[in-house]
Amino acid sequence: MSTDNPLITQLRSIVGPTNVLNEGDLSAWELDWRKRERGHALAVVRPASTAEVAAVVKACAAAGVSIVPQGGNTGMVVGSTPDASGTQVVLSLTRMNQVRALDGANLTITVDAGCVLQSIQDACEQAGFLFPLSLASEGSCTIGGNLGTNAGGTQVVRFGNTRELCLGLEVVTPQGEIWDGLTGLRKDNTGYDLRHLMIGSEGTLGVITGATMKLYPLPKAQLTAFAAVPSLDAAVQLLGLAHQHLSAGLTGFEVMGQFALSLVTKHFAQIKVPFQNTDFPYCVVLENSDQESEAHARERFEHLLEVAMEQGCVVDAVVAESITQARALWHIRESIPLAQAQEGLNIKHDISIAVSRIPEFVRQTDALLQAAYPGARLVNYGHLGDGNLHYNVQAPEGGDAEAFLRDDEKGVNGIVYGMVDQYKGSISAEHGIGSLKRDKLVQHKSPVALDMMRAIKRALDPHNLMNPGRMLSIK
Ligand code: FAD
Ligand code: MLT
Ligand code: ZN
Repeated sequence: MSTDNPLITQLRSIVGPTNVLNEGDLSAWELDWRKRERGHALAVVRPASTAEVAAVVKACAAAGVSIVPQGGNTGMVVGSTPDASGTQVVLSLTRMNQVRALDGANLTITVDAGCVLQSIQDACEQAGFLFPLSLASEGSCTIGGNLGTNAGGTQVVRFGNTRELCLGLEVVTPQGEIWDGLTGLRKDNTGYDLRHLMIGSEGTLGVITGATMKLYPLPKAQLTAFAAVPSLDAAVQLLGLAHQHLSAGLTGFEVMGQFALSLVTKHFAQIKVPFQNTDFPYCVVLENSDQESEAHARERFEHLLEVAMEQGCVVDAVVAESITQARALWHIRESIPLAQAQEGLNIKHDISIAVSRIPEFVRQTDALLQAAYPGARLVNYGHLGDGNLHYNVQAPEGGDAEAFLRDDEKGVNGIVYGMVDQYKGSISAEHGIGSLKRDKLVQHKSPVALDMMRAIKRALDPHNLMNPGRMLSIK
């Protein structure tokens, strides 16, 4: 174990020698989830408390060493792994994994930032509450990472993004000071909302160490349906009907193109996908949560599907008869990113467009891509309920990978983001910017907005030590 670096010695004295890793296989911290980039850290440091985080940040600041905050390392945009310089400290929050308090009357839970999302969901459920944030990575992503990226997921149509679920934060600043903003207040107009500045800042403004999150009552019943629809326009029509008939009971509405579903069948033969090999180009998973009873939920859900079939926007549908069946239907949707990763080279997008304009956007962009890249395979799926599409593109089979990956205005990104601009959409609805989309941000965000963002970064982190090079480049 090398101790010649005085900072490493100091970090060991703060968190204990076994929690400073700088030898052996560090790929779990240095390689991003999509295996796009392998960095090299000076060390991985694993504090167990907010005081330890503050001491680590102070020590790194004094040494002029930059920090990369990391939770579950499930991010999609290469934002949580170090660069290749071997000079950055990865600050892993996963040892900070305790529920601090659950306040049933205030409908809040206060947790350490390193708590795995699923463990928070489970703790809330055991106490009789719902914590509605839900993503396919919930078994390993952390609430600190969810806040750092303002994660979306499958329940946004009803509960909003992570931002809407957060009532307070505890943050260690780039100078190593602790800001305790864990108020749990639903109303507080005392100046700039620092919480909202930190949420979605991707580790560039400070380290989130704790959070107070909103709880909801557990639903009495939850029903899931899987429906085949004749077009994307029909899916949007179905969404409108679902809002009308289910109102706040509509808690999930996901769309999946047939090619995306075929990848699930191809790579996970054990997963049975309804309505495959049919002429219906899209399927939808929708969820109805009900505060009255299972019977009430079923009656409303079946009525919605009857009306949708009469209007022709649903061709066929199955409603899960049990929780196991419901989970199986959701599992199909959640397996798409994994199936796509297995299929090989692809370009991922997490764009958002006004829901009403999505069908037209897809028609036009599909045509442009096919013209530029004959044989490109469109893996189109996502959170239609909130206008966020994973409009992903799989390389043509046996095609030229280099040509497919060209990154100029004629490349896949250029075509897709050009259309996103035309439709006044966003190039990142939920995954964030990281280093993968840093150059794209400059191209697609207004200069005025970028100037304000840089001014905030310079004011809070004048030495550019918090996740430098991610999201924004500071000259
Ligand atoms: P990490 O990947 O470790 O970090 C992500 C970013 O947050 C980095 O910039 C990091 O520096 C910063 N960060 C991490 N912890 C902190 C902290 N404590 N303080 C300050 N900054 C911090 N995302 C969605 O939004 N919706 C989805 O539906 C979705 N589905 C996914 C499905 C799969 C199969 C996978 C692999 C990923 C999915 N993601 C999704 C992306 C990812 O899971 C989310 O971005 C998640 O919020 C990241 O959490 P994490 O703990 O893994 O963060
Ligand atoms: C999803 O919704 O499945 C994700 O955001 C992950 C992905 O796009 O791969
Ligand atoms: Zn998503």
